[in-house]
Amino acid sequence: MKLNAAREAARHVRDGMVVGLGSGTTVKIFIDVLAERVRQENLTIFFVSSSIDTSLYAAGKGLLEVPLHEYTPEVSFDGADTVLPDRSLIKGGGGCLLREKIVDYYSKEYVVIVDATKVAETPRNLNVPVEVHPQAFKKVMEELRKSYGAVNVTLRTYEKGKLGPVLTDNGNFILDALFDELKDPLRLELSLKSVPGLIETGIFSVKKPSKIIVGYLHGVQVI
Ligand code: A5P
Repeated sequence: MKLNAAREAARHVRDGMVVGLGSGTTVKIFIDVLAERVRQENLTIFFVSSSIDTSLYAAGKGLLEVPLHEYTPEVSFDGADTVLPDRSLIKGGGGCLLREKIVDYYSKEYVVIVDATKVAETPRNLNVPVEVHPQAFKKVMEELRKSYGAVNVTLRTYEKGKLGPVLTDNGNFILDALFDELKDPLRLELSLKSVPGLIETGIFSVKKPSKIIVGYLHGVQVI
């Protein structure tokens, strides 16, 4: 399913293009497809990265990294954990939401690639990752519960490889906030950004993707 979505998305890429690259398993499959085109068609593709993971992976596959401060991606390609009915996204399952939102926002357009399991029919029972400054993490946890109605908030820790809280590429912590319902994702995104110590939310609603490519076992649907 991811491969079908990635193949469809890769058709948007032309020789010499600067693309933004999100993070995660679907984006890695997209990078594989691009790398194959680079080899077969002798293309040069530049990318602006949203994470250390993506930088290492894409550079290892022959794509050339350029900085956002000097380049504006024609289009960025990103995955998502959930696509909500109003086309807002929830992202950050891999902890890369801050730089993903920067790259997606400052690209001329952005395209989301997901497998069909990510499309939610209702905005219920959703985990929203948020990136927080370590100094404020407990205060933000309280705030999410008391002022925003999160039913459960946890500090993300490593499952293996290292003890303690997950540190993002930016040196921050990640909280996972469970909500019974996200009635108004845009409003919640904007409001959460006003909480001191909360650096970024995994709700991507301010800038909607120009296309969402949903991969199925046999084909794609473009929303
Ligand atoms: C990374 O932090 C995320 O925002 C990813 O875009 C999201 O988790 C989707 O990842 P997968 O493609 O691995 O499902």
